[in-house]
Amino acid sequence: MGLVRNKLAPSILAADFAKLGENIAVAHEAGADMIHYDVMDGLFVPSISFGIPVLKSITKSTDAFMDCHLMIVEPDRYVEDFVSAGADSITIHVEACRETDTMTTLKHIRDLGVKCGISLNPKTPVVYLLPYLGMVDMVLIMSVEPGFGGQKFIPESLAKIREVAALRKEGGFDYDIQVDGGVTDENLQDILDAGANVIVSGSSIFKGNIAGNVTNFKEIMSR
Ligand code: DX5
Ligand code: ZN
Repeated sequence: MGLVRNKLAPSILAADFAKLGENIAVAHEAGADMIHYDVMDGLFVPSISFGIPVLKSITKSTDAFMDCHLMIVEPDRYVEDFVSAGADSITIHVEACRETDTMTTLKHIRDLGVKCGISLNPKTPVVYLLPYLGMVDMVLIMSVEPGFGGQKFIPESLAKIREVAALRKEGGFDYDIQVDGGVTDENLQDILDAGANVIVSGSSIFKGNIAGNVTNFKEIMSR
């Protein structure tokens, strides 16, 4: 396993959509390592966010790495469209695949030449990820129920992060461990200590001074 690098992935779900390009540019220039793009279909989660046309516009105006988190049922239907629109990484939910199974969908993503990730909801046990750990670039531990920004971090998520970190070591895998939901500058250190290295944050980055928030997070992540 190589040296694990900490990466910050601001979630634009909390951005000002009337100034989306600007908000992304500020976060990117301040040192964000990627931009987290939350896609919601109103079925897998209650809310609807944004989809392929918005991603296409964004990738025309930035070279930031686009980390797409698909909270949609049957994600296999759309992976080609997201890659064409400029996705650099696609994460799917283990609970979302039915007609086309999770393994087939992950292979599909890889064959399209982008990174693939697997995610699980707070109530889904880590055991459901076991078949995929050897083939994913990233495991995403949801630390809130997916669907909305601005929720409170579920403390039990720390144990799940430790579990996937231990499985990585045991299996000799090299996936990144991403955490998403309720991350603040106050719980960030505990999350890093548990073994997460890709940090998603929406509200704590885009509400207030974006550049200042990115700098603050990056400072904690570099200690
Ligand atoms: C929730 C999304 C998150 C969300 C995080 O379903 O997957 O990426 O934007 O927002 P905060 O950091 O505000 O909890
Ligand atoms: Zn997300």
